[in-house]
Amino acid sequence: MMASSFDLLSSLLSILLFSVSSASLDSVPDFLQCLSDYSPPFDPISEAIYTPQNSSFSDVLQSYIRNLRFMTLKTPKPLVIVAAKRESHVQATVMCAKTHGLEIRIRSGGHDYKGLSYVSSIPFVVFDLFNLWYISIDIANETGWVQAGISLGELYYGIAEKSNVHGFPVGLCPTLGTGSHFTEGGYGTMMRKYGLSVDNIMDAQLVDVNGRSLDRESMGDNLFWAIKGGGAANFGAVLSWKINLVWVPKTVTVFKV
Ligand SMILES: *[C@@H]1O[C@H](CO)[C@@H](O)[C@H](O)[C@H]1NC(C)=O
Ligand SMILES: *[C@@H]1O[C@H](CO)[C@@H](O)[C@H](O)[C@H]1NC(C)=O
Repeated sequence: MMASSFDLLSSLLSILLFSVSSASLDSVPDFLQCLSDYSPPFDPISEAIYTPQNSSFSDVLQSYIRNLRFMTLKTPKPLVIVAAKRESHVQATVMCAKTHGLEIRIRSGGHDYKGLSYVSSIPFVVFDLFNLWYISIDIANETGWVQAGISLGELYYGIAEKSNVHGFPVGLCPTLGTGSHFTEGGYGTMMRKYGLSVDNIMDAQLVDVNGRSLDRESMGDNLFWAIKGGGAANFGAVLSWKINLVWVPKTVTVFKV
């Protein structure tokens, strides 16, 4: 009895899933057309788009999946991965996903053990930040701009290349993405002296749900506060962060007891 109702349930579910996925697959060509219509000709978005037809689709999808539970054949896959390189790509993705009823999952780095940034039960596209990989450190002003695809290790390295008495309070795992770490606060070993990462963030570049490009001033205090702890993906897509460097000793002594 239980077995048969379970069978019924699962066949119902697969019918449901089938109808959802066929409906959503239909919207993919329109979505792709929309992306190329939105992106300016001098800034083609095609180089940032991966569909299952691109041979590297699986590699790109799997290279940031650390929890093997979400790497099975049954795990729902994104219809498209957009690895945006520029702001216009992000704006196009937001506007076109909205028009075509697709959900956007934003992924930065590989420490998402719940899979929320690359799995969804409804038709979705992954906006992956790994191409946003620029960092500029300004020692004279003790600041820096960090794009959301930069990992913690790359941030530490970028600062250390310029100075051995500056640092930034972040966590320890070098492969963790700053894009997600900062939006959840960002705690680490410098916390007692300097607070969380977000206590040292001065500005951010955000694309909101209407495709508008905003900075700290234009987004206002409330939104700027919310993206620094409330999960920025709930409010838009953060492309880069302006950080305030902190002072660290030139020599650090480490010991174990
Ligand atoms: C994926 O394939 C399409 C169609 O062949 C191509 O235009 C696009 O540039 C490819 N994407 C990447 C990232 O190479
Ligand atoms: C510090 O930042 C200001 C404003 O961005 C810039 O005009 C100035 O050149 C910077 N100072 C140095 C020494 O780089």
